[in-house]
Amino acid sequence: MATIQDDPIVLPDDPEFGPEVQVDYPGYRSTRWRAPSRPLVTLPEEFHDLEGPVFGPELIGELDHDLTRQHAGEPLGERIVVTGRVLDEAGRAVRGALVEIWQANAAGRYRHEVDQHPAPLDPNFSGAGRCLTDDEGRWRFVTIKPGSYPWGNHENAWRPSHIHFSVFGRQFTRRLVTQMYFPGDPLLEFDPIAHSVRDPKARRLLIASFDLETTQPDWALGYRWDIVLGRAGARTTPLEES
Ligand SMILES: [Fe+2]
Repeated sequence: MATIQDDPIVLPDDPEFGPEVQVDYPGYRSTRWRAPSRPLVTLPEEFHDLEGPVFGPELIGELDHDLTRQHAGEPLGERIVVTGRVLDEAGRAVRGALVEIWQANAAGRYRHEVDQHPAPLDPNFSGAGRCLTDDEGRWRFVTIKPGSYPWGNHENAWRPSHIHFSVFGRQFTRRLVTQMYFPGDPLLEFDPIAHSVRDPKARRLLIASFDLETTQPDWALGYRWDIVLGRAGARTTPLEES
């Protein structure tokens, strides 16, 4: 099985840290605090062999993948189905990977104390879900389309609609964190987070496709987005440093 951390997305060379380290991206202010300020330390080999938690199906609740059914009522907003596969660099399915998402509600507000954006909270929407990939590497969520929100990075800064994704492999040390965007969003062009992935082709890999096959008549629009792990070059889903 492919591992997630064999992996880091290759960013432009940095003479001090080497070619595979996320560095400070000036347009995205908080990367200043995330980018390493000292050279990386290589962990002893045995650390990589440590088995993390086993993500068995018993950990996943029946409705964990459906963010529209976690409360007494339905959340407000445009109901969507988002699905795709987790694949390794050879295009093979990654089975049993834990896929977690978190997102703002339809009004662009997170249910989190740090988010004080004056948009309404939705009592029927928590904004978090999870599932395991099946034998074909497939995952699927039912949710509502997240709204845009201002984020204070610079004057008049608004995030395009996005869903945060985390993918764990079979080991706790192997995790990918990234964001999925929606096609046709006019804010993508202005978003320093999306643009911190500098290669336009790699950036395109973060945008889901509208999918009529996934769309359910009279019920929900469908989007498809595949996550490709490892060193698959131009096909690899760009990572976000966490
Ligand atoms: Fe966000």
